[in-house]
Amino acid sequence: MLKIKNLHASVDNKSILKGINLEVKAGEVHAIMGPNGSGKSTLASVIAGKEEYEVTKGEILLDSENIDELAPEERAHKGIFMSFQYPVEIPGVSVTNFIKTAINENRKAKGLGDMPANEMLKLIREKADLLEIDRKFLSRSLNEGFSGGEKKRNEIFQMAMLDPKLAILDETDSGLDIDALRIVANGVNKLKSENNAVIIITHYQRLLDYIVPDFVHVLHNGKIVKSGTKELAHELEAKGYDWIKEEVKA
Ligand SMILES: Nc1ncnc2c1ncn2[C@@H]1O[C@H](COP(=O)(O)OP(=O)(O)O)[C@@H](O)[C@H]1O
Ligand SMILES: [Mg+2]
Repeated sequence: MLKIKNLHASVDNKSILKGINLEVKAGEVHAIMGPNGSGKSTLASVIAGKEEYEVTKGEILLDSENIDELAPEERAHKGIFMSFQYPVEIPGVSVTNFIKTAINENRKAKGLGDMPANEMLKLIREKADLLEIDRKFLSRSLNEGFSGGEKKRNEIFQMAMLDPKLAILDETDSGLDIDALRIVANGVNKLKSENNAVIIITHYQRLLDYIVPDFVHVLHNGKIVKSGTKELAHELEAKGYDWIKEEVKA
């Protein structure tokens, strides 16, 4: 599904990613871990196509198609979802109205008309029930006064509704209390299937107590320095990131 080959990327002429190789197949959950500043969020942003990041070498293939030149919206239409894609507060626009618009934009890009209202309503109910989201939450203004957990709930709801091929969840450290962790983990566990893939980025091993990744990669200084299974996350928890840094030096 996703193939990243020798990816180098920079921001403001500063080189951040220095040769990333990664293959993610349908049905897989990959965790990307690593110390602060190692380039995790940059990798997520580059895959999603954020404009301030420049790919200087290598390529990103989605279903064998090079997506380097595509705008973020075009990548979204091809099925790439990134969390915090829509972090803005929009007073007067509800959680539901926002996602309705996003879904219809997606359909438009595929040459389809708006989703019929009854079908949309059915889908919203189905996903809200699956994720145990309260109906009242759906009518709240987008992100306005949302707690950390509510932001996560919204994010996972968006993911459920858009049903992406590849979801990239950048779990930045702040605001990830145990409640928020569980919401993300339950969401991922319920939404993963044989047809989609998830890349979950986290600084903390704790999230991986709830989501069991098929592969764990450790990013350090813009490179994947170690890959393994969930055991690697446990090893990291026990030994800390300094262990990786020492290994890299050796
Ligand atoms: N938009 C940006 N402008 C300038 N520097 C950036 C930008 N984004 C990331 N960086 C720098 O790139 C490095 C990696 O950052 P980041 O990808 O956010 O790491 P992580 O998510 O692993 O903590 C850091 O040194 C950071 O300061
Ligand atoms: Mg980050």
